[in-house]
Amino acid sequence: MASLIRIENLRYTYNPESALPIPALNGISFALAEGEHLAVVGRNGSGKSTLAKCLNALLIPSDGDVWALERNTRDRAAWADIRSAVGMVFQNPENQFVTTSIEEEVAFGPENLGVPRAELRRRVDTALERVALDAPRSRDPRYLSAGQKAKLAIAAALAMEPRCLILDEATAMLDPLARQQVMETVGALQAQGMALVNVTHFMEEAALADRVLVLAEGAIAALDTPQAIFAQEALCQAAGLQVPLAARLARGLAARGLELPTPILSQDALVQAVLACREGAE
Ligand SMILES: Nc1ncnc2c1ncn2[C@@H]1O[C@H](COP(=O)(O)OP(=O)(O)O)[C@@H](O)[C@H]1O
Ligand SMILES: [Mg+2]
Repeated sequence: MASLIRIENLRYTYNPESALPIPALNGISFALAEGEHLAVVGRNGSGKSTLAKCLNALLIPSDGDVWALERNTRDRAAWADIRSAVGMVFQNPENQFVTTSIEEEVAFGPENLGVPRAELRRRVDTALERVALDAPRSRDPRYLSAGQKAKLAIAAALAMEPRCLILDEATAMLDPLARQQVMETVGALQAQGMALVNVTHFMEEAALADRVLVLAEGAIAALDTPQAIFAQEALCQAAGLQVPLAARLARGLAARGLELPTPILSQDALVQAVLACREGAE
């Protein structure tokens, strides 16, 4: 499959000219395929946000290259295209809000691109529908709940009709129900062909990805399917990953002699496997 974003030997250092340069990324290479769902995990300070910002030209590599849609992020003339094709939602979206109503907020990006009225209206309607934001369109973004703010930030990114959405711990401040709703929303978008990069501390979310990239001290510790990642106990421990509860339960049950197919990552899969064991015993 064609790659949407390609990263080759990416290094990023904060304050490079200072007495205390901070090397945040130390030589990262991988490619994100069209429509792929990639989870990025790792300890605080491992470089996840720095990597995310390098993907849509918010940060330009200190060394190495990032190509988004075949355009190098070093090419200043490509920045506007790259940033509209690769949308980004942060953990505190209120810092991103620039208007005083939901409707204006979603329209802001495409309006700045000069999208004509009728098309603008269609985009705003579609984006708000997709995130199922349950608040009047005239409401000031500041007065929304955390879950509504996350949905609004996603709608604003979607109005740009991105090929890829990056969520940088966008669900971290949400209660479990709101988090689940946001993940269902982005899951549906991904099913329609949009690529997704989800930077997250929630391994239940990472388990939904096609691949999981584990960062440790600015380098790739592992890049594989969630099944393969969560099967590696030592890796998970070293990278500070809290393996999903269903996976830990499955491991515990297997250690006590229950014959379960491995690996199990979700609650549903665990329920099915335990039921299958019971049927086998009958
Ligand atoms: N604006 C900044 N200025 C200086 N150092 C930074 C800045 N942002 C992040 N860092 C440092 O870069 C490293 C990686 O940070 P970050 O990418 O935010 O990691 P993560 O998102 O995984 O927590 C950390 O050592 C962090 O302290
Ligand atoms: Mg971060």
